[in-house]
Amino acid sequence: MAALLATLFLFIPAALAGNGITLPLHRIALGENNLPENILSTQISVYNSNLFVYEVDVKIGNQTFPLLLDTGSADVWVLSGKCNDLEECQFLKTYTPTSSIVLADESFELNYLLGSVTGSVACDQMTLGAYQVSCQVFGMANRTQALHLGNNGNSGILGMAFPSVAAIGPATGVSFLQNIFSYLDEPDRYFALALGRKSGLDPTSSFSIGELDTAIASDFSGFFFVDVLKHGANDYDYWKIPLLSIKLEGHDLSLSPSLIPGAEHPIAVLDSGTSLVLGPTIDVKNFWDSFGDAARLNPVTAMWEVKCNTAITVSFALGSGDDDKMDFPLHPEDINWDSNDAGGEWCMGGIQANDKVNSGDWLVGDVFMRNVYVTHHGQNSTHRPAMGLLSMTDSGQAMEAFKKSRGVESTSAVIRIQQKPSDAMHPNVLYAISSGCGFVGGAAITLLVRVLQTRKMRIRTSLT
Ligand SMILES: *[C@@H]1O[C@H](CO)[C@@H](O)[C@H](O)[C@H]1NC(C)=O
Ligand SMILES: *[C@@H]1O[C@H](CO)[C@@H](O)[C@H](O)[C@H]1NC(C)=O
Ligand SMILES: *[C@@H]1O[C@H](CO)[C@@H](O)[C@H](O)[C@H]1NC(C)=O
Repeated sequence: MAALLATLFLFIPAALAGNGITLPLHRIALGENNLPENILSTQISVYNSNLFVYEVDVKIGNQTFPLLLDTGSADVWVLSGKCNDLEECQFLKTYTPTSSIVLADESFELNYLLGSVTGSVACDQMTLGAYQVSCQVFGMANRTQALHLGNNGNSGILGMAFPSVAAIGPATGVSFLQNIFSYLDEPDRYFALALGRKSGLDPTSSFSIGELDTAIASDFSGFFFVDVLKHGANDYDYWKIPLLSIKLEGHDLSLSPSLIPGAEHPIAVLDSGTSLVLGPTIDVKNFWDSFGDAARLNPVTAMWEVKCNTAITVSFALGSGDDDKMDFPLHPEDINWDSNDAGGEWCMGGIQANDKVNSGDWLVGDVFMRNVYVTHHGQNSTHRPAMGLLSMTDSGQAMEAFKKSRGVESTSAVIRIQQKPSDAMHPNVLYAISSGCGFVGGAAITLLVRVLQTRKMRIRTSLT
């Protein structure tokens, strides 16, 4: 039987005016850590030079670690000193058990598309800003495989999705998010996230719990609210909401129906742990085909590319339905990634195909999230979980900045919206077609952009 590590939590908000806290985030480019050069493997191709992760400092026991802030998973884990694989863990800060640790008689294993992490389950004091949980359950990773954490310098992950998707489940301990939400008064039961565009300790990024970052928004008046979609009858898994359409230069691109049984609209999972926007092959092909000659599918990498000087306005319409939706414009540099290769003709596209997204239809990562200030509200007595979105991108200004950075010749692509994917096609048929297309090269890049990709997480009780 698993020992329950849930009972010992307590928050000690030290010197707080209200209940909330606002914390800085570090934006780290893959390969931009301070590790010795030779550790940076050739995994980091030109394509990945614009992949960023957002990290927050978390103290576990008496040691502070940069953890990847991930709204697409629900566990906390950190590397332990046992992890000494050169490629995977060396030169990263690792956790050494302190006197306050409580060990569970359990091991954990998280499986990703192309890698995994294994270790044991423990609980220790965890401090985030002024919040302290006296016994927060977490995974101590003594082995990771094919994750290459050294590329971005984080020692683990802080997962902020709903507890039902945690590998270290409720029978073992209360998730960090649940601890936070049960501490906060109902009106303050939320966290807010801004993913910025500056490197290092990014002043345009912020992570708040129980309050808004007043440097970004002083109240909720400009926010657009959408209820989080349920998983099954009465449960929540991810921060997911309907994606009603994608617009190119104001033209609606209709999307193929959701593959999730019962879903009225395609489902977008907002996920700070994914760099790209990943969607169904058929829709993503339709999107890039609209660019005509200005976009191509690179046959070697199986990634969509766009002419570097192509300036396009793309927006996502999110909301509960056609009479309750809002358009959120994306900065052109999120759609057309800077190649770091001066004079290069082809740049990587920020929207890519992947049919392995099984938590929803679209995995909407940093490419979108950099364009909104987003609040994540927990369940309270009057309302189910919801998300608030505030647009942060002025499409006119963003376009001007983009054209300036890519050179005066930047051109608007001629957008030719293709016929929409036939409504007559049953979702099962769409699925068969798209998975038949294959996606060999995609797996590798997806791993780099998404640490927690597949949901085949499991927890095993060790055989003692
Ligand atoms: C953490 O605490 C342990 C004792 O529990 C001590 O040996 C160690 O030096 C401390 N480390 C830091 C960074 O304070
Ligand atoms: C890692 O931890 C697990 C669970 O405690 C254990 O089964 C395994 O032997 C450990 N591996 C190493 C290399 O220490
Ligand atoms: C519950 O949360 C919603 C946001 O999801 C908020 O508008 C509402 O005021 C909260 N209810 C209470 C009683 O605080």
